[in-house]
Amino acid sequence: MGPQIACDVVPAFQTSPGMRDILPPDSARWRRFVDVFAGIVGPAGYGLVIPPLLEDAGVFQRVGEATEVVTKQMYRFTDLGGRDVALRPELTASICRAFAEHRPAVPWKVWCAGPQFRYEKPQRGRLRQFEQVDVEVLGVDDPHVDVEVIALGWRFFQALGLRRVELALNTLGQPDDRRRYVEALRDHFEAHLDALTEEGRQTLTRNPLRVLDSKRSGDADVIAAAPAMTDHLSDAAADHFATVRAGVDALGIPYRIEPRLVRGLDYYLRTTFEYLGGTLDSAQNALGGGGRYDGLVEALGGPATPGVGFAVGVDRTLIACDDEGVFSTPAVGVDVFVVDTTGGAEALVITEELRQAGRSADRAFDGRSMKSQMKAADRSGADVAVIIGPDELAAETAVVRPLRVHGDGTPDQAVVPRAKLVHHLIQHHSLRSPAPLASEDE
Ligand code: HAM
Repeated sequence: MGPQIACDVVPAFQTSPGMRDILPPDSARWRRFVDVFAGIVGPAGYGLVIPPLLEDAGVFQRVGEATEVVTKQMYRFTDLGGRDVALRPELTASICRAFAEHRPAVPWKVWCAGPQFRYEKPQRGRLRQFEQVDVEVLGVDDPHVDVEVIALGWRFFQALGLRRVELALNTLGQPDDRRRYVEALRDHFEAHLDALTEEGRQTLTRNPLRVLDSKRSGDADVIAAAPAMTDHLSDAAADHFATVRAGVDALGIPYRIEPRLVRGLDYYLRTTFEYLGGTLDSAQNALGGGGRYDGLVEALGGPATPGVGFAVGVDRTLIACDDEGVFSTPAVGVDVFVVDTTGGAEALVITEELRQAGRSADRAFDGRSMKSQMKAADRSGADVAVIIGPDELAAETAVVRPLRVHGDGTPDQAVVPRAKLVHHLIQHHSLRSPAPLASEDE
């Protein structure tokens, strides 16, 4: 720990429930998470899209009137111009709105990263502001695109180093199949109303499909006896799903068919899938999920356009990484720390020269003692300290002192002419080059 500002005053404000600050060094891990995702989806032809956090609330209402995310959990308010707006609870509706608005050429393959807002009961892995990374493909009906997105998610979890992730796969059929299935489910549950919990009965009045999603043990028996979607599939939907399965098999990705997988949002048709974390509680074990939402662009006033995609929750996936001991917080540090006991003006110029040369450099402020500056140099993670005292200033030199022992024959302390300092550091010390934009797996 470095020196801290002395303060025994209780802060006037703290983050709201379900919100949190992500501070260094954890924030470096977050950034890297998104970089790894970009490194997987970018080379597959996906371009970054950055929609606004705030949309007309109607955009999300199209997600489905029976979706709790929309009806109960939305941060919705009237803005100063009298508009009915909402902080986005998810990305798919925003991306479909953007598609309907800008009409880009199809296939439109995009990815996105950023915060979502849902007024949920905060608990481990469930927040009110949480981060997602997401991909969407608009304008392609081919089942192989379902396979492509499923595989991208799978490869991403592999790149993080996660081994205990399971892929669950299902189909909700074509709109007519889904309608028939919902009726069959309603008949089944209405015939067994007594066997449902009160919450289960309430869900039934809104959407029989969502009863399947119940995690309550009181609903388990009647759910287990419910009809299966596979018995209500049209030939076209069954063919689509068979091709998806064959494709996932061909890529060697393990999965299980999960006939009760309905997902929490109402726009899904045909393929649905979820990536489940093996270390998490079953109420919060979905690390990510997605599927097809062929009617959504049309519902938002655009042309009839098929769509498929998924989102991964960053917060939850990092908990899974902690549980599995993978994808640790990257070591942060600068290349060079400049220790200047002559007032700090030399440190100002040397750090600037190094940064201009593309190297990272830091220094201490407030005229601290040599001992305190050397401690700060050590904490900074720098490989090398450059030391300027009165003697060096007078002789126009600098002392270069390695701070870490490397097995590669790191040179000993040296006195270097000031004019050649940056050149010397680059020549004789294996300074890290500027961080790459997309990092590889460890
Ligand atoms: P979702 O299943 O609602 O899907 O969210 C995707 C992931 O976001 C979840 O699996 C979970 O990891 C994370 N997540 C959701 N809610 C929370 C929360 N309150 N706190 C922390 N993490 C959370 C969607 O959002 C769809 N838009 C996915 C999609 C894209 N479907 C098609 N394309």
